[in-house]
Amino acid sequence: MDFFVDENDRVDGIEKVTGKAKYFAEFKLPGLTYGVLVPSTITKGKITAIDIKAAKNAPGVLDVLSHLNKPSAAGYEAGGGSPMKIFYTDEVFFNGQPVALVVADTFERATYAATLVKVSYEKAAFNTDFKKSIADASVAKKQGQPPYVRGVADAYKTAEVKVEQTYEMPVETHNPMELHGIIADWRTNDQVTVYAKTQGVKAAQATIANVFKIPQENIQVKSEFVGGGFGMALRTWPLEIATIMASKQVKRPVKLVITRDQMFTMVGNRPAAYQKIGLGATKDGKITGITHTAFGQTSTYENFTEGVVTMSKFMYASENVNTNYYVVPLDMSVPIWMRGPGEATGAFALESAIDEMAHALDMDPLEFRIKNDPETDPMKNIPFSSKNIKEAYKLGAEKIGWNNRKNKPGSITEGPWKIGYGVSIGVFNASRGRATVKGILNANGSLILQSATSDIGPGTGTGMVLIASRLMNIPVEKITFELGDSSLPPAPSQGGSTTLSTVGTAVNDVCVSLKATIAELAANANMSTTSNFVEVLKKNNLPMIEVTKQSQANQQGKEYSMYSFSIHFVQVKVHNLTGVVKVSKIVSVGDSGKIISPKTARSQMVGGAVGGIGMALTEEALLDNRYGKYVNNNFADYHVPVHADVPEIDVIFIDKPDYIVNPMGAKGMGEIALIGFAGAVANAVFNATGKRIRSLPITPDKVL
Ligand code: MOS
Repeated sequence: MDFFVDENDRVDGIEKVTGKAKYFAEFKLPGLTYGVLVPSTITKGKITAIDIKAAKNAPGVLDVLSHLNKPSAAGYEAGGGSPMKIFYTDEVFFNGQPVALVVADTFERATYAATLVKVSYEKAAFNTDFKKSIADASVAKKQGQPPYVRGVADAYKTAEVKVEQTYEMPVETHNPMELHGIIADWRTNDQVTVYAKTQGVKAAQATIANVFKIPQENIQVKSEFVGGGFGMALRTWPLEIATIMASKQVKRPVKLVITRDQMFTMVGNRPAAYQKIGLGATKDGKITGITHTAFGQTSTYENFTEGVVTMSKFMYASENVNTNYYVVPLDMSVPIWMRGPGEATGAFALESAIDEMAHALDMDPLEFRIKNDPETDPMKNIPFSSKNIKEAYKLGAEKIGWNNRKNKPGSITEGPWKIGYGVSIGVFNASRGRATVKGILNANGSLILQSATSDIGPGTGTGMVLIASRLMNIPVEKITFELGDSSLPPAPSQGGSTTLSTVGTAVNDVCVSLKATIAELAANANMSTTSNFVEVLKKNNLPMIEVTKQSQANQQGKEYSMYSFSIHFVQVKVHNLTGVVKVSKIVSVGDSGKIISPKTARSQMVGGAVGGIGMALTEEALLDNRYGKYVNNNFADYHVPVHADVPEIDVIFIDKPDYIVNPMGAKGMGEIALIGFAGAVANAVFNATGKRIRSLPITPDKVL
């Protein structure tokens, strides 16, 4: 079949929509076996016995692994923090912790046999109550970030106008469409191949090497296509280690795909948060003090912290700022970054408080933000590499029809609906790391680029191909970008909105170098330096030339603050009788440097807005503190936005290059697409109804 290829299309779009793209669970290996986990049914305590007799005798069962019989060769000092060591101890740290793994010749047989494993426990008292623990002095808090003070601490307290409020967020789960899991193939003594769902094939390789004490080169991690990650695939989870262990034990490939309910406990989540913001301002609207105190949830066995209070330090021009961030260890599974991570949590609180202050001052919240927009970074006292927020405000305001907004809440109605408008800002580091890219330029006119990066959906391959296509003047269909395999040149994990900047810089450098080599070869052959590379290679009798380049972290971090910014405008309709909130219009403006791939960049912003609707209105993993167990661990009860919840989304890009960040002038987008969004919705709900909701999600019971 012939497909029309538009330069704008995703390079792997056709593979994805025709089912040709292979995701980890689709690899059919000879002799494949299936693993099913047995999760703990208690929240804290000790395993006193595991009876595996019935399970082992069930049809098709190859083995049952637990801490009682794990393969002795495996050490379990995994990298990063103090991750839970799977099958290492009789201790139970959270409800749903994997305590055994059944391997059978079919998935159904493994599932059945898992029900036959009888685990006995000695229960211990536990604590999963986040909110209660914040006030409870007997629950030891840990500092999540060093305290920060600029100017006078708590200056807001003596301001002419002050706002002092508390904002709450529940646990949210990433829940990408693709379930988590792995296929591990350790049939021979010295070679391990895994088909993984990961945001970092090199990181996964390093973790496996570390855990099993084997050389990295003996491990191959493949993960070409990932069906959504949002941060949950930024580490190798204990269940993956268990599967690799099982493959080693049974000497056959083992596939493990966890169930949807296990997605709530085994692969992290966005931690619950409780935040206090104190804002002070003069009567004419200058911010004089910001105090941000945040509490996040973590686990007892491993510490997790993130950038919850980061934005408050530099987003607004205030001489006085102080922040504190603590984490509360609970008997729950460890959280992990979820899109926008802590910054999205912090932005909800800060951007709500900013709106509250604008209201207290009787100022337009947009005007209030513009008035307090710092020209230079007030935290580091250095310029921003680029920042076009005022232009972004203007474009977004025009598009959403901000002029129609009334400052007085509850002013606009439409039948049974109240209409409101809200705005908020998002910001995230525009950082660049180190990645290696190899380029192979062939005399047949094709260019192959290789790097062990991942693409969890943003369109990494597409972006890289476009960078190369423009620099080399080669049509996109002649360029291939190979990724998602640990045997390719090393690249960091895809996370923190850095891939395009990091890997793209190496692609840029490869192309610049290839062009120079072609020009040199042309000169040597007495050809014009503008000759087509195919002719130059042929004339020189070269089937191909190749070059490998490594990009470096940005060296100008001391001279410039580098951030991507977003402004989210929303219109909501709130129903008088039911309290239902509908997001009826969205305009998201991205100030993220030059846009390399317009279609996938727009998709990033759209995806962020959809995630933002969920965060604002529906997403909440509800834990029953009596049992330490999630009660809505399925898609019927944990509500993610569906099409009916999502209006048409306008995406605007400022599209001005920032060459301080990288040679493409492009800044990251993955996080800013979501950061701030929930605040815009909460602010719009206030504008519609006069009711300030400081606890997400904004469900009808809170609105009424
Ligand atoms: Mo992301 S939370 O950097 O995958």
